[in-house]
Amino acid sequence: MQGDEHQLMKAPPRLPLVGASLLAADWSRLGEEARGVLEAGADLLHIDVMDGHFVPNLAFGPDVCVGLRQTLPGCYLDVHLMVTDPAHFLPIFAEAGADLVSFHAEVLTPESAAELAEEGREIGVQVGLVVNPPTPIEPWLETAESFDLLLVMSVNPGFAGQKFIPEVLSKVRTARAHLGPHARIELDGGVGPGNAAEVRAAGGDVLVAASAIFKHAPAARSEIIRQIRG
Ligand code: DX5
Ligand code: ZN
Repeated sequence: MQGDEHQLMKAPPRLPLVGASLLAADWSRLGEEARGVLEAGADLLHIDVMDGHFVPNLAFGPDVCVGLRQTLPGCYLDVHLMVTDPAHFLPIFAEAGADLVSFHAEVLTPESAAELAEEGREIGVQVGLVVNPPTPIEPWLETAESFDLLLVMSVNPGFAGQKFIPEVLSKVRTARAHLGPHARIELDGGVGPGNAAEVRAAGGDVLVAASAIFKHAPAARSEIIRQIRG
């Protein structure tokens, strides 16, 4: 929960934004990896939170955000909650220093999602709504209007290193047409230099990558981020 960093989504200095997902970083050197990708040009850090229930894997808890916030005070922390109970975790991650907390449509109704978005705002955090690849976007378009960001998953969540599902791009086009040019639409999963142009053309303007960035040596990362940005 920072102040001016919130401007990153509301008034981005340039588009698209590129997010580095720490899921594929070297976890034994997380702070160094995070600092390195920000210096290499990433606009934000994407933190995957997995509860072993909504997805069959475990990842980052709130103390990771606390630590990153201490080490990198000005960074933008984009927290992706892959959890069955987002209402429980939203205030915890807001308190831990998240700038944006996104939660999944699959565990909510449009009404409960809108309520949670409101709660997020009240505690000073930005909110994102996430849809998995099989989830249709139409029932969520109106709800998405009250969010700071719509995250369209381009893999089934749970693991880094999966193949991009191109069929989700039609949802991105539909969402962009409905939400207009000022909405932020994030894509997450299998994104890299090879498909970033397609993602941008469909209307994606926040591109998140884990493997495409972290599976390469630090020296190569600024060029990869540059290519994703286009
Ligand atoms: C997947 C996570 C993604 C993941 C992306 O469940 O939500 O953020 O880190 O990894 P790549 O970019 O390797 O597909
Ligand atoms: Zn993610």
